[in-house]
Amino acid sequence: MNLRNAFKACLRIPASQVTDEAIYRDRRRLLAALAASPALGLSGCAEAEPPAPPATTVTRAEVESGFKTDEELTRYEDITTYNNFYEFGTGKSDPSKAAKTLRTSPWTVAVGGECGKPGKLSLDDLLKGLLPEERIYRLRCVEGWSMVIPWLGVPLADVLRRFEPNSNANYVAFTTLADRQQMPGIRYRSIDWPYREGLRIDEAMHPLTLLATGLYGKPLPQQNGAPLRLVVPWKYGFKSIKSIVAITFARHPPHCSWNRLQPNEYGFFSNVNPDVDHPRWSQKSERRIAGTASKLFAERIPTRLFNGYADQVGDMYAGMDLRRWF
Ligand code: MTE
Repeated sequence: MNLRNAFKACLRIPASQVTDEAIYRDRRRLLAALAASPALGLSGCAEAEPPAPPATTVTRAEVESGFKTDEELTRYEDITTYNNFYEFGTGKSDPSKAAKTLRTSPWTVAVGGECGKPGKLSLDDLLKGLLPEERIYRLRCVEGWSMVIPWLGVPLADVLRRFEPNSNANYVAFTTLADRQQMPGIRYRSIDWPYREGLRIDEAMHPLTLLATGLYGKPLPQQNGAPLRLVVPWKYGFKSIKSIVAITFARHPPHCSWNRLQPNEYGFFSNVNPDVDHPRWSQKSERRIAGTASKLFAERIPTRLFNGYADQVGDMYAGMDLRRWF
């Protein structure tokens, strides 16, 4: 954890305001109190830089063991009718009804920022030559439910490399389409649209991180984020941003919609962690929606650190205080 950098970032005050040493000292005391308090944390300070990644030693076999699971799959019907996609309403069944009309072709994605080859590409050109792979991942929503989903997609790293990220690319930012005509939920200012998310560059380049184009061997339905969505299986589901229209390599931590909305409830990392509760509910267990079990009364199972992907991703957070950088 790089507290000095976080402090430096928070203390970037215009010179005109730095007039009184007493005020400066008070500010330092406040920041020290914030840093010492896991409940408040510094993630609410938009400029706090999360710790840089350590080198990882994960083997190929360890990573590949995360590509599938023997756990019972969630039914197609449940994956496609129990959704969170606020652009189409906040009810779980709203997206499957309202997103049917989302036009997913033609679709373009703008890639830019800290890279050598920025561009605006059609979906076909973006994914040209990459064969979709099946990945069976657990999806754990921050609300306390989970599914097991057979995705089709390509490793995000294979797409990102084509744009030649430069040495300033510490983060990758993602943006969802925000079209008032097609997305009825956008008239409510529940979120500062467009929906945005971001990852540290090592997380974005991790072999588990997928750009999904389908599920159950079929094209991705609109309500699940067609035609292109992110899947980051060790993080809470809200990091897996849907219907992506822009990808930007960034030097600094990008705007993340839920983190901006409630920084003390939704951290930048949002790694699944049963030991760090949401301020308003426990994260120790989850309602597993799988097989024919009822959705609301599904069996509760213990939540696992990094959603059960600790062997694959734990190294990226070695030495990091997961309570502070939640
Ligand atoms: N992406 C966008 N653009 N808008 C959203 O509201 N919801 C997130 C995430 N991606 C959301 C989004 C949340 S909270 C979750 S849990 C997952 O999508 C749900 O994905 P699913 O509906 O395919 O299960």
